[in-house]
Amino acid sequence: MSAVIAAASAMAPSSSAAADKFLWGAASAAYQVEGSSTADGKGPSVWDDYLDRLHLAGPGVSGAVAIDFYNRDQYLRDIAIFKELGLTSYRFSISWPRIIPDGLGPVNPAAVAHYRQFIKDLKDAGITPMLTLYHWDMPSSLAAAGGWENRDSVKWFQRYADAVFANFHDQVDLFVLINEPSVERATKTLAENIRDHGKGDFKILPDADHMAVSLKTYNHILLAAAAAKKSFDAHGYKGQLGLAVPLFPTITEDGAGDADKKSAVLADGVLNRWFLDAMYKGSYPQDVLDMVSARGLDTGVEPDDAKTIGQAHFDYLGINFYSPMYVRNGANPTDRFAAEQYLPKTVYSAFNGAVRPDQFKALLGRMKSEYGNPPVYITENGAGFAGEDVMKDGKVDDIQRCRYLVIHIAAMKSAMTDGADVRGYHVWSSHDNLEWLSGYASRFGMIYVDWDTQKRTPKLSADLYARIIRGDDVTENDCVARN
Ligand code: GAL
Repeated sequence: MSAVIAAASAMAPSSSAAADKFLWGAASAAYQVEGSSTADGKGPSVWDDYLDRLHLAGPGVSGAVAIDFYNRDQYLRDIAIFKELGLTSYRFSISWPRIIPDGLGPVNPAAVAHYRQFIKDLKDAGITPMLTLYHWDMPSSLAAAGGWENRDSVKWFQRYADAVFANFHDQVDLFVLINEPSVERATKTLAENIRDHGKGDFKILPDADHMAVSLKTYNHILLAAAAAKKSFDAHGYKGQLGLAVPLFPTITEDGAGDADKKSAVLADGVLNRWFLDAMYKGSYPQDVLDMVSARGLDTGVEPDDAKTIGQAHFDYLGINFYSPMYVRNGANPTDRFAAEQYLPKTVYSAFNGAVRPDQFKALLGRMKSEYGNPPVYITENGAGFAGEDVMKDGKVDDIQRCRYLVIHIAAMKSAMTDGADVRGYHVWSSHDNLEWLSGYASRFGMIYVDWDTQKRTPKLSADLYARIIRGDDVTENDCVARN
């Protein structure tokens, strides 16, 4: 384990008013937890197609049951656990194909009633709902019409968002419009490679051939979020709206050459500045635009698009942080986008990449120094490590996840001490759940789920998180196996 990790500890929150209002939560997404995939008139989503119909995550892996979270008896038991842990916020997503089963047609009152009840149940337990409108489960009909690659997706989403706001604005103050555009794109590309060629690599950093389409979808997603925000404001609703953007500090290994460093800067442009500059500066990064025009790529970006996105004035920035990304110059030195993501073999890492809380702190500092210190919610942070989520003597001691959370919370608090305006933190995830293309094999939860019985068992990480929420001065050395 590296020195950066060993040195970190989670200080107790200060007693200021801001600290009292700080939201301590956990996150999940509809397709990954709900199950009940045809209940109450739900339409099919692209993920039902990938997993339930095409079995891209392997035979028998589907979202038909997941962790049974659509079932009120079950989710009430889960809310009781959240309450016991002391969570003050819960980030969940609602399913577009439940609310509008065919994507564009009439709103489904049964789905609205379900989520209104769920939100009421959360609030009755004293937990603030953070409602994500879109966490990747696009209605199949719209995916078939090109999904985010089609500029009409801006209108499709705005209509859906209007339906959500009309039905939930009186219950919810915190809305996450769209989750992780770049990771959605990578996951979808991988799914389709598996479907069409039997295999593929997971690459969040698109290679040059896929670059134009990726940038095009990101532009449409940002425009869709901007249109939804404009409409929300025009209705005079009260609430905070933002997107959950996955941010990846792009870093090089010690001893990297100039070409590697240049590639890392361009990768930062594609993965981070493309979103942040549009939202906070009303422009797309010039180095990415230059690369795109030098290659003759068509991203479909129209002259005023970035300005429109900047004028949306999102209320907060949602940051999903798991890991930085190591970047090096790819094999072809004449390619102006020769950036390649990789994971050095010697680096301590979780399922989602290198464990680097120092990079989390630096990222939050960057939001202050380069983007005017917007209010930030950490909408996801978490980890899974192969082999440690094992039930033994009735308990699960997930020591590495526990340490990961403690040291990342410490890094966040240290950035806050330096002035970063962070308002809340959500662990990915409350429970073990359906992890997209790795199915039920990769566990990320603080609460263990027995897939056969649906029995829940809070893990060691949940105990430590509860202590942090209570204000105990916890360090990673407290993450030890329990007797
Ligand atoms: C995020 C995604 C989540 C979850 C998590 C763990 O990228 O938003 O849905 O899958 O990664 O891998």
